[in-house]
Amino acid sequence: MQNNTFSTLFVGQNLIKLKEVDSTNNFLKELVSKSEPLPEGTVIMADNQFAGRGQQNSVWQTQVGKNISLSIYLKPSFLPLDKQFYLNMAVSLAISETLSYFITSGISIKWPNDMYYLDKKLGGVLIENALTGTIIKSSVIGIGLNINQTDFPEEITQRASSVFQILQKEFQLEVIMEKLFVFMEKYYLVLKSGKFESLKNRYLEKLYAINKLAYYKEDGRVFEGEIIGVEDEGRLIMKVGNDQKSFNFKQIEFTHTK
Ligand code: BTN
Repeated sequence: MQNNTFSTLFVGQNLIKLKEVDSTNNFLKELVSKSEPLPEGTVIMADNQFAGRGQQNSVWQTQVGKNISLSIYLKPSFLPLDKQFYLNMAVSLAISETLSYFITSGISIKWPNDMYYLDKKLGGVLIENALTGTIIKSSVIGIGLNINQTDFPEEITQRASSVFQILQKEFQLEVIMEKLFVFMEKYYLVLKSGKFESLKNRYLEKLYAINKLAYYKEDGRVFEGEIIGVEDEGRLIMKVGNDQKSFNFKQIEFTHTK
């Protein structure tokens, strides 16, 4: 185990720093399968991922050494399977509280777990759970946050941002990681103590475009709707005209605000 100065009980206390790896999620999953027992809270971070993965089999690419690319090992075996989405809420809240510590306004969570500053993406999360029966045996929480990146490829420059672009200031990655690990531990303990309603309320407070009319797209068809909540299993609840509908992840796409 490597020693660190993070003021946490377990998240980040065993930190493995890599220069380069395919994906920190892949590396951590491999480590979990080979070298049990791995301490809960172990973090793998990398300066460069040459095959970083995003949601829905997308590719996650960032400038080498500029951003936070890490994976955290958790063992939420206390969490009933039908409450899995609450882990996602806890992680999203921890990241949004971290970002809000540095960027005092404008941070939100775009359902289900994208991190936004106003209308631009600052980071994302890829959670991969391993189950034994109905128990979540291990959870690999992959987090990518744009910190010191100065510019983005042309095709995403309108949709992506970084802490540097917002504050015009470079940060040592460890300074932001310290807060991230503290808040991750805080929300993980809220989750562990079963405060589901409180987690959902806080998540909804932070949700991008909640209670606002906006345009969404489903199967190529654009419609006007208003996010009004999320189901326990994570489906997004929307008011569409006089109806209430719920949507699965990737079933709909946000297009623009009204
Ligand atoms: C997304 O918004 O699509 C999720 C992006 C998640 C990226 C992080 S970076 C660290 C970890 N390792 C990966 O390969 N992906 C996640």
